[in-house]
Amino acid sequence: MLQKKTVEDVSLPGKKVLMRVDFNVPLDAALDITDDSRIRAALPTIQYILDQGAALILMSHLGRPKGEPDPAFSLKPAAARLAELVTAPVTLAPDCVGEQVAAAAAALRPGAILMLENLRFHSGEKKNDPEFAKQLAALADIYVNDAFGAAHRAHASTDGVTRHMSPCVAGFLMKKEIEYLENAIANPQRPFVAVLGGVKVSDKIMVIERLLDRVDTLLIGGAMAYTFLKSMGHEMGQSKLEPDFVDEAARLMALARDKGKQLMLPVDLITADRFAEDADVGYADAQSMPADRMGMGIGPRTIEAYSKVIADARTLVWNGPMGVFEMKAFAEGTRAIAAAIGDNAQCTSIICGGDSAAAVKIMGLDGNFTHISTGGGASLEMLEGKVLPGLAALDDA
Ligand code: 3PG
Repeated sequence: MLQKKTVEDVSLPGKKVLMRVDFNVPLDAALDITDDSRIRAALPTIQYILDQGAALILMSHLGRPKGEPDPAFSLKPAAARLAELVTAPVTLAPDCVGEQVAAAAAALRPGAILMLENLRFHSGEKKNDPEFAKQLAALADIYVNDAFGAAHRAHASTDGVTRHMSPCVAGFLMKKEIEYLENAIANPQRPFVAVLGGVKVSDKIMVIERLLDRVDTLLIGGAMAYTFLKSMGHEMGQSKLEPDFVDEAARLMALARDKGKQLMLPVDLITADRFAEDADVGYADAQSMPADRMGMGIGPRTIEAYSKVIADARTLVWNGPMGVFEMKAFAEGTRAIAAAIGDNAQCTSIICGGDSAAAVKIMGLDGNFTHISTGGGASLEMLEGKVLPGLAALDDA
């Protein structure tokens, strides 16, 4: 249960609402949006606010510009996409603060949307500058945060602004994301399985420690598995591993043993002679990796073993791909794990955003999951048990 007030707890007719969304969508070289999931995910809250007769001011960041305007990071494509998805008129402001923006916000009619330009065109956003936050707050009466993907950031638009506005409430996407993840961690149906992949063990230490208290089985894949395998004394050839974290990997394996939890590592790997799409493809036992080859993902016997565990799971969280899914020749591990999850209709399955979410979308397997989070970093921090500043700043229910 979300312990925060939501848009349903406030009176909206005739009000101006300032809503933080995460429209940080991926763009290609032509600045076309390649995945509009984050925009679509905010639509229920947007539509609800408009239907209630409020005027809606949306604010977001996009990418990591350097605190000054940069056309490559404009929210123009996102505003255009939003205009296609809603019937309301959508206007993109030239900035997110300043006289012109204040005038446009003041003139905004109920049922209309004003999209502010990228918050990170001002250094005050990331610095959580109180003056910048005040200027944002002055634009509206009510603050709504539906940007789960940015809730782990204590920035002016997610934190500072709430000190100058009341009420401050959550949107439906924020509520849904928090409830899925909280439920999975706090009240999982068992067996509870976590699948962790991606490149670095160093990014996942805290999440592994916390998950070991909660899950029944942890399945490790992706390049981070090579650091674990190395810690068991196996030579990993040319595989990309983290030499400085080999001891840490050994400690995590010992922790799993102490807690009586099953931490599974690959028994075989798909390999390449170099890191390239057209590399020579081969397979090796995880214990006997040839010196001149590198691991590129989990191998067929590992896929089989992990799929068996997944077939019995009743709750599953997944973060990080099982190999170099961006290269077709090495995408099979990630695809097969997504397929195994889809084959288990009894399981509540959650993908924690980021690369694994992108991978299953590219493969057309996103329908296999109960919930695909819109937040990569945010969902990882939730799994780590951290308080999300953007959530903490909202009014208690
Ligand atoms: C994300 O893509 O994870 C969020 O939009 C946060 O972006 P950031 O990592 O640049 O703060």
